[in-house]
Amino acid sequence: MINKIKSQKLGLIAVFIALVIAFGCKENKTPETETPIVSAENLDEEFYRPNYHFTPKANWMNDPNGMFYLNGTYHLYFQYYPDGNVWGPMHWGHATSKDLIIWEEQPIALYPDELGLIFSGSAVVDKQNTSGFGKDGITPVVAIYTYHNMDGEKAGDIDFQTQGIAYSLDEGMTWVKYSDNPVIKNPGIKDFRDPKVIWDSQTNKWIMSLAAGNKIMFYSSENLKDWVFESEFGEDKGEHGGVWECPDLFPMKVENSETTKWVLLVSINPSGPNGGSATQYFIGDFDGHNFVLDKDFDQQLSQSKSIWLDYGRDNYAGVTWSNIPESDGRHLFMGWMSNWDYARDVPTYKWRSTMTIARELQLRKNNNTFNLMSFPVDELNQFADIKLSKISLSSNELNGVLKDLDVDFEKLGLDFTLNGLKNDAYKFVFNNKAGDTLTLGLDNETNELYIDRRHSGKVDFSEKFAPHISKAKLPNSIKELKVQILLDKTSVEVFYNDGEFVMTELFFPNKPFEEFSIISNDDAFIIENFKVREFKFN
Ligand code: FRU
Repeated sequence: MINKIKSQKLGLIAVFIALVIAFGCKENKTPETETPIVSAENLDEEFYRPNYHFTPKANWMNDPNGMFYLNGTYHLYFQYYPDGNVWGPMHWGHATSKDLIIWEEQPIALYPDELGLIFSGSAVVDKQNTSGFGKDGITPVVAIYTYHNMDGEKAGDIDFQTQGIAYSLDEGMTWVKYSDNPVIKNPGIKDFRDPKVIWDSQTNKWIMSLAAGNKIMFYSSENLKDWVFESEFGEDKGEHGGVWECPDLFPMKVENSETTKWVLLVSINPSGPNGGSATQYFIGDFDGHNFVLDKDFDQQLSQSKSIWLDYGRDNYAGVTWSNIPESDGRHLFMGWMSNWDYARDVPTYKWRSTMTIARELQLRKNNNTFNLMSFPVDELNQFADIKLSKISLSSNELNGVLKDLDVDFEKLGLDFTLNGLKNDAYKFVFNNKAGDTLTLGLDNETNELYIDRRHSGKVDFSEKFAPHISKAKLPNSIKELKVQILLDKTSVEVFYNDGEFVMTELFFPNKPFEEFSIISNDDAFIIENFKVREFKFN
């Protein structure tokens, strides 16, 4: 257990007085020599398996698919290759949860067939049995997904992606494919995929958003089988350095107002804000036929070209749950916690890929600026054991406060607000005795939030994993910053100002982190509502 004030040399001239909070954890009790450092050769398959994020038991996973809620159960399907640990012929894997945190893997839901592999898509609960798939009063759940025909692709065709549907009469456990698939044929667009369907109460129709190369196409249907093209959006808006994928269109109340706006999520690969894949969003209006950008949002876009849901490198292809009861009213989101730049190379072997924590979305508008906020669902709190809670501390007082604290950094929540900030740098540092360091924080001189995983452990499995620091630009320097950090074995999710800025990134330390520090050359800032939480699951 260490508790000390450290000095740190930065460059040749500046000596920073650093405030270090270091608190003991289980690892500290074992003499260092007895703690094995994991090398690629002897990697224990469970060493990197997260404690409270979903991973498949074995093999490859990517995008979340078909998420819906019904009768107390949240369903999560996912792009799954059951025969290998890299991307391969896609199936829909399946997991269920009562609380969005603890997931139980279920048998594979959808297998490839003669029309193709099963790519990403969505699922809806067809309460009015518009599809006619319901029998004996049973409400059908209908999955809408993309068929990717490998033979067509190999033959050099461009129309190898079509849309198909399947239905379930046992609340999503087993599925029957529709006999008349595909329900939407390919109009001659090579990338034509990832249907996300919602019920539109303005027109009493189903609306599908579909990614089509460099734009989103909207279709409508009365029965989920016959689809009519309505309109398209986006060819000249937002980021276009890659292919548009996995859209999601849904209405949302603007916080503290009676105004409803429509949110359009669009994932893009590559050309995310820090490289590789990422998710941008658009705010506008939708009348059942056309999506039109809001004027103020268009103005925002003219200043920054693209606006991102998450500025970290590991939150991709995320969409929202369908059929959340009105009494709940939340918009619940989950993303794939990886990046196409290196997803195949990350150093887990038996299984590959993790989902983000389930998040709630909220839409805020301040001074004509929209912000799609995201933060962890409340359900996570029920698993939190509060190890320490301090209302206010000067940076000097922090020294000593965390003495004797025993906390597991592999399931850690840290919450605090920094107040009285100057135009200085504030680093939040995790480290271990293997010399691994994960640094995040605020540079209030350059107005940037950042994550630096360049020295966080295993990074050389891919040149693209940690070539630089990931950054999110703030509009100006700030006096106050609210921080919520979730740390699981290989992931950090940081929610600033209740989700106004979010950064999600993976890391692969040689041993678990053991120390946390807040480092700055400013020794006058105040730390408010400092809370250390450990998540417990029995
Ligand atoms: C996004 C994506 C989707 C596609 C799926 C294939 O990560 O490329 O566009 O449907 O993955 O697995």
